[in-house]
Amino acid sequence: MTGRLENKVAVITGAAQGMGAATAREFVSQGARVVLADVAHEAGRALEHELGEDRAIFVPLDVSSEDDWRDVRGRTLDKFGRIDVLVNNAAVGYFVGVDQIEADKVMRLFSINILGGMLGVKTLAPAMREAGAGVIINISSLDGLRGVNGMSPYVASKWAVRGVTKAQALELGPAIRVVSIHPGGVNTPMGNPTGAGEEEVNAGYARVPLRRIGEPAEIARVTAFVACDDASYMTGAEIAVDGGWSSGHYHSGLPGSPEV
Ligand SMILES: NC(=O)c1ccc[n+]([C@@H]2O[C@H](COP(=O)([O-])OP(=O)(O)OC[C@H]3O[C@@H](n4cnc5c(N)ncnc54)[C@H](O)[C@@H]3O)[C@@H](O)[C@H]2O)c1
Repeated sequence: MTGRLENKVAVITGAAQGMGAATAREFVSQGARVVLADVAHEAGRALEHELGEDRAIFVPLDVSSEDDWRDVRGRTLDKFGRIDVLVNNAAVGYFVGVDQIEADKVMRLFSINILGGMLGVKTLAPAMREAGAGVIINISSLDGLRGVNGMSPYVASKWAVRGVTKAQALELGPAIRVVSIHPGGVNTPMGNPTGAGEEEVNAGYARVPLRRIGEPAEIARVTAFVACDDASYMTGAEIAVDGGWSSGHYHSGLPGSPEV
């Protein structure tokens, strides 16, 4: 059986762990060859080894460095000869009250979460354009669809990713499709930093329609669908993969809530 991503070459940022690593595994299982781009060398090389060098290479990348992006472009074209898909997945968090923000920390977060993906598009989209086709997937968040207390810089960055996706879709069409994906809570080092077990972590999801945290593979499968040719008429869209969280939260005592 041939996979949906047969013959595609994908660059995935933040691919050393969490959702990025799950995306790399899913893409390879569907026939793609992948470039694992991350600041985490050891974990990135371990995943390269797991997936096999004919299918995956690790390339060091700090997404905020234009020089690093040029290196990723060069290494990808040298090894695989083409770039079909870019998944801008790398991001960092910063828990802080609105009256406590520190400018250098906010700017560092913006340079990774916003500028990082924009530099990726700047550097890799020309190769896609030249080839006549490409797909860019920007990983935003449920927090790019709503507000959250204690996370204002992260929320700002994820709304920015959602907005810039639409500007990129306009500028890069018709050859290149650009889509944002908005995961809800996902069981990764970012979404479950203490590594809490299923029961404990899901207790925090009692007011979400699917009433559990998402697994990284569940987001990765949607990313793979958006990347493949079956999604050929999809661009500029925002796809929530959040267990229904963006639809709302149950109001206790009203019909339909878990308590009634
Ligand atoms: N986990 C969640 O609950 C959740 C929810 C919504 C959205 N997201 C988003 O999904 C994406 C992946 O999140 P995750 O949960 O897998 O996070 P994670 O923290 O588990 O992994 C992030 C990866 O990005 C890498 N990274 C960090 N800074 C980098 C940089 N400057 N350059 C290159 N790589 C860098 C890290 O080394 C790591 O491998 C992020 O964009 C995140 O904002 C996560």
